[in-house]
Amino acid sequence: HIIHVILTGGVGSRLWPLSRKRFPKQYLNLFKGGSLFGMTVARNHALCDKVTVVGNCDNYLLSKEIMEAQGVDYTDIVEATPRNTAAAIAFAAFAAQPEDILIVTPSDHVIVGDEAYEHAMQEGIEKASKGYIVTFGIQATRPETGYGYIEYEGDQVLSFREKPNQDTAEDFIEQGNFLWNSGMFCFRADTFLAELQQFEPKVYATAWAAWQNRNGDMLDEALSAEIPSISIDYAVMERSKKIRVVATRFEWSDLGSFESLYEYLKETGHNVDENGNMVIGTELFTAFVGLRNTILVYTKDALLVVQKERSQDVKKIYNTLERHQ
Ligand code: GDD
Ligand code: MG
Repeated sequence: HIIHVILTGGVGSRLWPLSRKRFPKQYLNLFKGGSLFGMTVARNHALCDKVTVVGNCDNYLLSKEIMEAQGVDYTDIVEATPRNTAAAIAFAAFAAQPEDILIVTPSDHVIVGDEAYEHAMQEGIEKASKGYIVTFGIQATRPETGYGYIEYEGDQVLSFREKPNQDTAEDFIEQGNFLWNSGMFCFRADTFLAELQQFEPKVYATAWAAWQNRNGDMLDEALSAEIPSISIDYAVMERSKKIRVVATRFEWSDLGSFESLYEYLKETGHNVDENGNMVIGTELFTAFVGLRNTILVYTKDALLVVQKERSQDVKKIYNTLERHQ
């Protein structure tokens, strides 16, 4: 089987206050095509013959509503507590047969170009069936520090570096032979699990224990708390020798931060002025005087003003909040 694994555990803390713990950004009806979650499901529908959604107790009903509306059968995995993507993907792999091919995608990306997408995925599936861990690379255009960087030559990955600092990211862009990691992956379930077991035996063992002791769709809470929180990027992608990359041609945007939302909206010409200022969430007439690269986000119970270059730090505010999360 070819299984579409949808990761939907994140709360979108860098998009607070737009994105909330109980209503993360992937479920917001931000776009004409509906929610990013729904669009992700639709995009992969023809490529895969099964779907697994890895989410959590705060959002599994939001996922269910969309899956039912789109008439898609799926396997539901409900995390008791988020333990990051290495473990989330391990659960989907445990649920699969060893020879199944998993296409793992986040649920919060904007992708334009269905044909190019399908083409890239077909190439990924082919490489995955030979035992490689495939990542999908995006042409890197600016020194964004929130992404992973893939140093590549053809489909060979010379190195993988997750979230470099600003100076390193600038070096990578200058060198030119780097792609951004899209955060989408393709591999056989057994290939991934063998690499995870080799590089992060504790993640593997604790995730397995939580999985074995699940109750229906829900993983064991106490055992889940024991799982080290690490992303697949640090756990496997930076270390494995079995990585291959597919350089993609579709348009891609990770609406992960207000800076990337700005980049996206700038293209479409909405909400953005000529000084790089942006307003989100209100129809109120808003004027910026003497400000540059300032983003204002208005919601009914919280207001955020952030300098664009500091978009990654919105997460820090979110993490200190007790109310309004
Ligand atoms: N189920 C589950 N459980 N899903 C999770 C968890 C978890 O504990 N943590 C994160 N996710 C989901 C998020 O909802 C998102 O869809 C995806 O996994 C990736 O997590 P992010 O937290 O958004 O990662 P990132 O944006 O910092 O970095 C990743 O994506 C970048 C591109 O968007 C990395 O793969 C980078 O290398 C990559 O460039
Ligand atoms: Mg992200």
